[in-house]
Amino acid sequence: MTSEGIGKASGKIILMGEHSVVYGEPAIAFPFIGTQVIAKVHETDENFLSSAYHHGLLATVPVSLINIQQLTARLQQELQTSNFHLTIESTIPPERGMGSSAAVAVAITRAFFDWKKMILTKDSLLEYVDFAEQIAHGNPSGIDAAATSDTQPIFFKRDTERLSFPLNIDAYLLVADTGILGQTRAAVASVANLFENNPQETKQVMQKLGNLTKKAKQAIMDNQPELLGRLMTLAQAELKALTVSTPSLDHYIDLVLSQGALGAKLTGGGRGGCFLVLTKTREQAEKIAAILLEENIKNTWIQGLGVYQYV
Ligand code: MEV
Repeated sequence: MTSEGIGKASGKIILMGEHSVVYGEPAIAFPFIGTQVIAKVHETDENFLSSAYHHGLLATVPVSLINIQQLTARLQQELQTSNFHLTIESTIPPERGMGSSAAVAVAITRAFFDWKKMILTKDSLLEYVDFAEQIAHGNPSGIDAAATSDTQPIFFKRDTERLSFPLNIDAYLLVADTGILGQTRAAVASVANLFENNPQETKQVMQKLGNLTKKAKQAIMDNQPELLGRLMTLAQAELKALTVSTPSLDHYIDLVLSQGALGAKLTGGGRGGCFLVLTKTREQAEKIAAILLEENIKNTWIQGLGVYQYV
């Protein structure tokens, strides 16, 4: 086994439905092709990881990379590979709600199967990624795995629905990175606590988020950007009620709304990370991006949704 295996995956954006998707409500997400991770694997003497966060033996990775250590151990055992050198290169900012950990797991699994020249079914891929995500995030809904491994937007319901969904609307999405590390694991755990301590109220918030997602799906199908924007801002209020927003995210969201954005909300786990701004035109998205960059926003991406090409 002297050849090299290569696997790729993109980041993801959850347009609507983060957190409530963990509790069975629907979500809309898409692979964010502006960001990518590439994993390469080849034979070597001892299992070795070369990445931005660890360059050394896999046996000595920091706790934050235990998901990779465990996933590769399982792949090595089940695919009966030799010892390996794994290289990971990524442009997905980590811990910003863009699905970095799921995308890395997708790329690694694909690389190992490519290396062994074995066919990897979608279900098997998602099973491996779910295994790694359980370690990284505790209770993953599976949406990150589904979106980072796909080429099309999806309408997703935990364990029941994974449908391609044409996210085609006359609007632009500005993705803004606060540069603050989000805390998906902690955010998911604290929402679980809310559920335990205040089940009635928390269930209502989840249902509201689920209804907003269903209405957003309809707004997209009816090409109603203004309505979609309002629904996003309403979702932000519910996410705030779940305690996963932060004063800094709230500040940026108020700012972009005051600049005429159609709507705005955090995306992914929250507690930092990225937020989304919906605008009617590219010019407006560019103007708001310039304002945000003046206000300490680390990075921005602009995605046209009307002519969206996912592959
Ligand atoms: C994280 O990207 C999305 C969450 O809903 C967690 C999950 O669905 O696994 C916060």
